[in-house]
Amino acid sequence: MSEKIFPMNKDQLEALTERFPTPFHIYDERGIRENARRLKAAFAWNPGFKEYFAVKAAPNPYLMKILKEEGFGSDCSSYPELLLSENVGVVGEDIIFTSNDTPAYEYAKAKELGAIINLDDITHIQYLEDEVGLPELVCCRYNPGSLKAGNAIIGHPEEAKYGFTRKQLFEGYRILRNKGVKRFGLHTMVASNELEGSYFVETAHLLFELVGELTAELGIEFEFVNIGGGIGIPYKLEDEAVDLEAVGEGIRKLYEEWIIGKRLKPLGLRMECGRMVTGPYGYLVSRVLHKKNTYKQFVGLDACMVNLMRPAMYGAYHHITVLGKESMPLDYICDVTGSLCENNDKFAIDRAIPQVDIGDLVVIHDAGAHGHSMGFNYNGKLRSAELLLREDGEVVQIRRAETVEDHFATLDFGGLKSFEV
Ligand SMILES: Cc1ncc(COP(=O)(O)O)c(C=O)c1O
Repeated sequence: MSEKIFPMNKDQLEALTERFPTPFHIYDERGIRENARRLKAAFAWNPGFKEYFAVKAAPNPYLMKILKEEGFGSDCSSYPELLLSENVGVVGEDIIFTSNDTPAYEYAKAKELGAIINLDDITHIQYLEDEVGLPELVCCRYNPGSLKAGNAIIGHPEEAKYGFTRKQLFEGYRILRNKGVKRFGLHTMVASNELEGSYFVETAHLLFELVGELTAELGIEFEFVNIGGGIGIPYKLEDEAVDLEAVGEGIRKLYEEWIIGKRLKPLGLRMECGRMVTGPYGYLVSRVLHKKNTYKQFVGLDACMVNLMRPAMYGAYHHITVLGKESMPLDYICDVTGSLCENNDKFAIDRAIPQVDIGDLVVIHDAGAHGHSMGFNYNGKLRSAELLLREDGEVVQIRRAETVEDHFATLDFGGLKSFEV
């Protein structure tokens, strides 16, 4: 069972909305830091352990700075994410650049920053060499195909567009070795939002064995394996969080057997989680704007799927609490909707919540990863502000809400006067 607790009471939140109108995302610094320390502690047995925070999950410099202070690097997937990482002072091999279908200018920026470049395809070896030159350290992304079952969210590995096949991996490292590359890493990511801890232990096993085979066949040594991100979070009350300590211990035992026992060079264990790092510590706060009763009951919020698209996109469950009504019976069955002209713009369908009133404050939980960052502007909707609840209780705005001027900033009005907003 998981608990869904919002770190402010109704009065504190009402007072906050006088400074920052709803909707907004708010992140809990204390929760993020404590969780980061828990993750590191679970893998402290591995001196080379490093978590590279998947910037795409929550690309905000304040959050990235907190995570940098906790010793995390950045997993970047694009030029802007590399710039953000550089801006907060996470550079060099504290960045892993895991991209796909990558343009040359992105590889050039990654190389300029000294980031670890993680290649998605065997053809990218030549591309990288031709466009920017090969760095001394290269990582390749493995797609195990039918050798590993995917999970429900990411799908079957053989259907995925990511990574090298096993045969390509041997060939790719051979090419890299023959071209003079001296330092190597191995990466895979085959799960998303996975709550079964043994899945990550098996992934590490797969990579440890492969490191042994690649070393034996090619005479190259590996510095690290990266088991990717994908650790899930308990979105539903009945879900159990992944037992990080058990995963750490399971991987440690395999490491003893497959790396130490086989006298391979010590390996750093790397991860690039996003969701489990900030997800549970971010909340979308919204207000009830309308109640509607037709063939069903609808509760309309002042947020919509541009603020959090996971429910509409994947039918994902996000727990909802009505602040100040936490102990009331859940006897109001409704769809909780946003204002987009899309019928799937619903945060919840047939959800039992307390009797709500117009003006009530509603908190949508677990919105701290792949939440604000997946936002968009369809229907001319504007993305909300992001706030940070500091450990001392102060709240700071870490991204302002978009304005209509922002929205129109890239439009060419063709010589016509832009209208007043
Ligand atoms: C290559 C890569 N690494 C890491 C992540 C982060 O995954 P998660 O947020 O599920 O941990 C993603 C997510 O899409 C990804 O594509």
